[in-house]
Amino acid sequence: MFQNMNRLHIPVLQTEVIQKLEIKENGVYVDCTAGYGGHTKQILNKLTSKGLLICIDLSDKAINFLKKEFASSKNIVIVKENFKNIHSILDRMGIKSIDGVLLDLGFNSNQLEEAPSYLSYHKNSPLDMRYSLESNVTAGNIINSWNQQNLERIFKEYGEEKYSYEIAKNICSQREQHFIETTDDLVSIIKNSVPARYSREKHPARKIFQALRIQINDEYGNVIEFFKNIKSLLRDESKIIIITFHSGEDKLVKEQINQLRETFVLTTKNVYPKFQEKQENPRSRSSKLRLLKIKKVLH
Ligand SMILES: C[S@@+](CC[C@H](N)C(=O)[O-])C[C@H]1O[C@@H](n2cnc3c(N)ncnc32)[C@H](O)[C@@H]1O
Repeated sequence: MFQNMNRLHIPVLQTEVIQKLEIKENGVYVDCTAGYGGHTKQILNKLTSKGLLICIDLSDKAINFLKKEFASSKNIVIVKENFKNIHSILDRMGIKSIDGVLLDLGFNSNQLEEAPSYLSYHKNSPLDMRYSLESNVTAGNIINSWNQQNLERIFKEYGEEKYSYEIAKNICSQREQHFIETTDDLVSIIKNSVPARYSREKHPARKIFQALRIQINDEYGNVIEFFKNIKSLLRDESKIIIITFHSGEDKLVKEQINQLRETFVLTTKNVYPKFQEKQENPRSRSSKLRLLKIKKVLH
């Protein structure tokens, strides 16, 4: 069963992540979004028994998978946690600084169709979208209780959706007649709120689902907090790799990197998937890897 789940998620930019991390065989690395372990495995292969890899993920299913998959590896620690708490997670282990850290942002493909998240707009499911059951608020709660202005705001801010006003208005009028319960209910409201030609280009629900997912899982808040908490763990030559999948996410990461320049002298490099990867893994098409190399810690 786990083998099949693993096959669904194809990690992006695997070769590039390993090349850019320039892994030191006895180094300390953190995979902040370990998911189904694609990048984890590659990093682990480069470490000797004196190296250490800490793997973090919020999803129970991903963590259970990782624990089985890497049960025989001695130099890996797997933690179900939010990467925003990176400093306290490492502090509990007595780790004061790291050689490299990877964030492969967003969700893994298994989360499209499995509980609790059900992120797919192609398959009818409960309106949930949580990565972890620890969060209280679901997509259903937001869609059925937030006012029109707030719905419109997150659709614009996190989805960059052109028809945010129309969609928010129709959600509010539809829910007066019946509770909006499933992803199909929501998709049908979205389809009825946008011109037919809009639906022909790309799926009309994709930006709204993105916006809800970001809001529910506080995705931007987690990245901001991560950047605050990573500072004290970085030393000369530490590397950070961040993979983003859409423009809002990338803009946020760029702002956070610019703030790091107050504390560090650093170099950055952007890397994109090659033509062949884009052909083989459609998910990679929108991905962008940002590499940060710490050159000097300023005091
Ligand atoms: C793109 S996937 C990573 C896939 C992984 N690199 C692999 O090779 O399988 C993103 C993962 O990050 C997890 N995630 C999202 N936000 C998180 C957070 N704030 N803290 C920890 N994990 C998070 C998701 O549950 C998901 O498994």
